Amino acid sequence: MTDLFDKCKGDGGYFGSLRVRGDRYFNQPVLEGTPGPRMKFGGKEVVMWAINNYIGLCDNPEVRRTAVESVTEYGTFTPMGSRMLTGNTEKHIELERRLAAFLRKPASILFNYGYLGVVGTIAAVVGPEDQILMDKLAHASIVDGTILASAGRRFRPFKHNDLNSLESQLKAANRDRKGGLLIVTEGVYGMRGDLADLPGICDLKERYGARLLIDDAHGFGVMGAGGRGTGEHFGVQERIDLYFGTFAKAFAAIGGVTAGESAPIEYIRYNARTNVFAKSLPMIYVDALTTSLDIIESRPELRERMWTIARRLQNGLVELGFDIGDTASPITPVYVPAGDENVAMQMIRMLREEHGVFVSGVTYPVVPRGTVMFRMIPTASHTEEDVDITLNAFRAMRDTMKIDTAARPTVVA
Ligand SMILES: Cc1ncc(COP(=O)(O)O)c(C=O)c1O
Repeated sequence: MTDLFDKCKGDGGYFGSLRVRGDRYFNQPVLEGTPGPRMKFGGKEVVMWAINNYIGLCDNPEVRRTAVESVTEYGTFTPMGSRMLTGNTEKHIELERRLAAFLRKPASILFNYGYLGVVGTIAAVVGPEDQILMDKLAHASIVDGTILASAGRRFRPFKHNDLNSLESQLKAANRDRKGGLLIVTEGVYGMRGDLADLPGICDLKERYGARLLIDDAHGFGVMGAGGRGTGEHFGVQERIDLYFGTFAKAFAAIGGVTAGESAPIEYIRYNARTNVFAKSLPMIYVDALTTSLDIIESRPELRERMWTIARRLQNGLVELGFDIGDTASPITPVYVPAGDENVAMQMIRMLREEHGVFVSGVTYPVVPRGTVMFRMIPTASHTEEDVDITLNAFRAMRDTMKIDTAARPTVVA
């Protein structure tokens, strides 16, 4: 007889070989210090490139002050209960109003985690007769929302950012169409850093009478002249039906928001199980987010600074021969030649131990099988010196390990 837990003893499951080794180096490394460009790892200072602190709000004193005042007044628990029962306050309502105005939409709804926001939004608006068209590289929360939606069995993946593939799926969906169609893509792809072709996707969704949800976790507060995201960057924000952003990245907090027309947002409020059956966002975050939003709206120079650092890092890596793919955002993937996990581990160890440069490796299931990369996040808090130390480290690592930068990864899906 097989015991349910037998599988837990072997090396199956996600990152199984690391789990059985009890690894705390490549997986779950323990970091010390305020999240930012300099932290401690293994007792030594490192230049940190693995944190989504895009515009440097992690160590912002105004946000910190607001949070301290808020926790003094409200504790960690206020308000108690779901928004639907006892967890609603004027401050939650006001933050939703401000976020909607920022995102140029009539209404918005807060969620406690970005993951819960994406899952809840999809599962609320998609019913049994509806169909979901999803980019093949979509984030796990989009996949899980699709599974949770009663229409999970009716989803149609299209090739990454491929408008022909999307159009043929739209045609197929229309042939046996009984309900509505929802297209879901990320705005900035969180691992590769490339952008969804939003103008082309908007044209198609209008031609085929579909609705569009953009998960802009990595574009929110980052892309566009005003930080409104990838829709603003492409000038198509008003054509996006549902815009989603997380607070866990540029806003340096926790939670998420979905914005759109009032009727769907109210429908989501009443039907997203991740809203109805979850305690509401604690006041400490509602207050801190109000200050973060003030900063994002009033200080575009933070985004300019982030771009300055990103360009210096990305240009330098390309000059050294490294493959950073087709990123069009600060996200800087460095593809490990030939997609070799063992080489990647040696590279990571050398960068950390000999040069004090901390990067994280990314493998399946975060990226497709066969892709191995470092995912580097330049931020407004990094200095030119941080970049130069890092480029020197990459050069030394390349030469010492005799890395053949011309060997392209096997899969860059
Ligand atoms: C594209 C995308 N969507 C959703 C999420 C989930 O957001 P959160 O971390 O706020 O739960 C993430 C975070 O990794 C993400 O990258």
